[in-house]
Amino acid sequence: MERTVISGGLVVTASEEVEADVLVEGERIAALALRGSETARSWAESGARTVDAAGHYVVPGGVDGHTHMEMPFGGTYSADTFETGTRAAAWGGTTTIVDFAVQGRGRSVRAGVDEWMAKAEGRCAIDYAFHAILSDVDESSLRETDALVDEGVTSFKLFMAYPGVFYSDDGQILRAMQRGASNGALTMVHAENGIAIDVLVEQALAEGRTDPRHHGEVRKALLESEATHRAVQLARVAGSPLYVVHVSAREAVEELVRARDMGLNVFGETCPQYLFLSTDNLAEPGFEGAKYVCSTPLRPREHQEHLWRALRTNDLSVVSTDHCPFCFSGQKDLGVGDFSKIPNGMPGVEHRMDLLHQAVVEGRIDRRRWIEIACATPARMFGLYPSKGTISPGADADIVVYDPSAEHVLSAATHHMNVDYSAYEGRRVTGRARTVLSRGRVVVDGGAYLGEAGHGRYVPRSTCQYLI
Ligand code: URP
Ligand code: ZN
Ligand code: ZN
Ligand code: ZN
Repeated sequence: MERTVISGGLVVTASEEVEADVLVEGERIAALALRGSETARSWAESGARTVDAAGHYVVPGGVDGHTHMEMPFGGTYSADTFETGTRAAAWGGTTTIVDFAVQGRGRSVRAGVDEWMAKAEGRCAIDYAFHAILSDVDESSLRETDALVDEGVTSFKLFMAYPGVFYSDDGQILRAMQRGASNGALTMVHAENGIAIDVLVEQALAEGRTDPRHHGEVRKALLESEATHRAVQLARVAGSPLYVVHVSAREAVEELVRARDMGLNVFGETCPQYLFLSTDNLAEPGFEGAKYVCSTPLRPREHQEHLWRALRTNDLSVVSTDHCPFCFSGQKDLGVGDFSKIPNGMPGVEHRMDLLHQAVVEGRIDRRRWIEIACATPARMFGLYPSKGTISPGADADIVVYDPSAEHVLSAATHHMNVDYSAYEGRRVTGRARTVLSRGRVVVDGGAYLGEAGHGRYVPRSTCQYLI
């Protein structure tokens, strides 16, 4: 079995920071030893391969709990395949994704999961798992979820938005939550009042308000907070935990705060785009704003402070990307003259770790919180811990040697995502993954990609490990 010692770095996990060397044996972490200890010296003399981490952080690989590779949406497919998207993730220090398998209308949940398994199989650079999107909630699909939970698909997303596409009504959502309360599944909700939004969309278009910024105007913060409130009440009635995806509005955060103050198992996720971008981007001249069309939408800049604060207080517990890229040319332009036809979603899987580290640099969160919201909590939330999300003996050797002082500029010219623009074009960040190990194998090192499609494995998940 191959032995590797990662030596000289500062090991940072969600719970501690320690100057220690890490011994990797094969695909797993075998042990940690304090710097300069007898044990560390014996490893150094054992002839094991050494990765020099002096001056670097040694952190768990990122766990991105919300991606959409090759997803059919808005008449097209998100532009990253499992091959290109997981490679880009690896470049950015993310070593596990949880993607969403879509139940097609009129089809079984299982058929969607099988289809996504087939798309990913043999193509991923890093490990992957699946949630399933329920778009046809009835007795038979709910019965299917029992078996899927046993097989490692332990969370299901329901949409209060997108009538006629993924939308479920309150009764369907309640039933899904009741099933989750009994089979252990975590219910994830896209909380926006899609019925009301569609009225506002129709009115905007009828009045000639057709450009991208109106996407943000019709998808009102109040319609996010209203849906969040409703989802919380439905979860209370069902006695089920609730995970609210891509929270963007301050008013929605306030609903989560209220629920959590009551001691409910209600959790919130936000994404880098809501922390770093705003309606100013949606209002960029010409059709540029289409690059920033996603749902929930970007909000006025003043919401950002509320999201950061909620991340510090754990009223928001996870930062995922909702990576769902569409090219500006040929995809986003489906919505020229009608913002409602712009495919919803933004690229980001490559930049999450760096953007959140930038928040460490700026003093918004500390290093352990960075790892908690980007690695440890998503791993626990989605039943992957402690194989993923931490650095401890027995865990998978998904490890990033992170250079906290490497400056770089985010740009479509240098990123690895299969999309023709960057939402962060020209943004300078400090910190970068130098060496990335996926189950013991070096997949990125010093600007070279050494990974391979098919190295990544499907990971069946246990149920949520984050409940009160
Ligand atoms: O705009 C987004 N978020 N696209 C992906 C689908 C979803 O709602 O998560
Ligand atoms: Zn969504
Ligand atoms: Zn404010
Ligand atoms: Zn999504």
